[in-house]
Amino acid sequence: MKDRLKRIKEEALKNINGMNSLEELENIRIKFLGKKGELTSILRDMGKLSKDERPVIGQLANEIRQEIERELADAKDRFKEKLKLERIEKEKIDISINKRTRKLGHKHPLLATIEELENLFISMGFTVVEGPEIETVEYNFDALNSPENHPSRDLTDTFYITEDILLRTHTSPVQIRAMKTMKPPIRIISAGRTFRFDDVDDTHSPMFHQLEGLVVDENISMANLIDTINIFVKELFGKDMKTRFRPHYFPFTEPSAEVDVSCFSCKGKGCPVCDGTGWSMELLGCGMVHPKVLEVCGIDPEKYSGFAFGMGIDRITMVKYGINNIRLLFENDNRFLEQF
Ligand code: PHE
Repeated sequence: MKDRLKRIKEEALKNINGMNSLEELENIRIKFLGKKGELTSILRDMGKLSKDERPVIGQLANEIRQEIERELADAKDRFKEKLKLERIEKEKIDISINKRTRKLGHKHPLLATIEELENLFISMGFTVVEGPEIETVEYNFDALNSPENHPSRDLTDTFYITEDILLRTHTSPVQIRAMKTMKPPIRIISAGRTFRFDDVDDTHSPMFHQLEGLVVDENISMANLIDTINIFVKELFGKDMKTRFRPHYFPFTEPSAEVDVSCFSCKGKGCPVCDGTGWSMELLGCGMVHPKVLEVCGIDPEKYSGFAFGMGIDRITMVKYGINNIRLLFENDNRFLEQF
């Protein structure tokens, strides 16, 4: 009887180890421990044993039953765990891969400068307007009082599309468009691309950017112009920056001036960067709107006067961001642009 019991135990454990599904496990349980199971039938045969043997075999049978039950329970747990892991493995989603990821860009330094300039002038009461890059010869030159023989009108200096149409050489034609469509008081700025037949070098490009400003109202004087430019320069570059107005010539303003600002390196003390002068760069051109220009636009020069100014945005951007080659602004090399 003892041997039978041991064999049953061994067989049961072997079966349990070899099982491959919960169903099989249940079958094993029924086979050994069920009502008609092998162990049960032994217990049923116990009556045939002697009084001495009965408790010994009974105890052994019980121990074996318990052991098989424990092994069954363990096997069931292990198997359930295995199934769970398999399911997790199958259902796994790799959330680390997102093929649709796009790099977020940011503003080009030129655009950042344009917006800074625009916001500055907006805060001073100016309105932002736009004008076309493809312009008429009339608005780009004639209405701006440019004489027929002015060198900038030359075919070698300007990109003509036809005899009457060109790529604007400056943003000043926007003045004409504004004055023809608006009534004084006028206070506008306009930024955009401009084109000249220049060879490319560190500071020149056939395409560049300007910002134009125009104010027309009663009693507008040179004092208003100087004050506006001074406020603008101090806001943009710092309170300690000074301006210097030098007489100049533009066909569409009279009087005209070019404006320099304090050297950015030494702030006016004089250093090698400014050749000891304390001044750096012509920041802009400006002047009082020529009466002939007002007249062409249908504005009475007896009643109204105005001032205008125009500046190179590329140059300002280069100074602000410490860029020493204008080409870098237009090559669109991300390795460069990402720095700003
Ligand atoms: N349009 C001039 C230029 O391109 C600048 C300017 C604008 C001068 C307005 C006076 C008034 O050089």
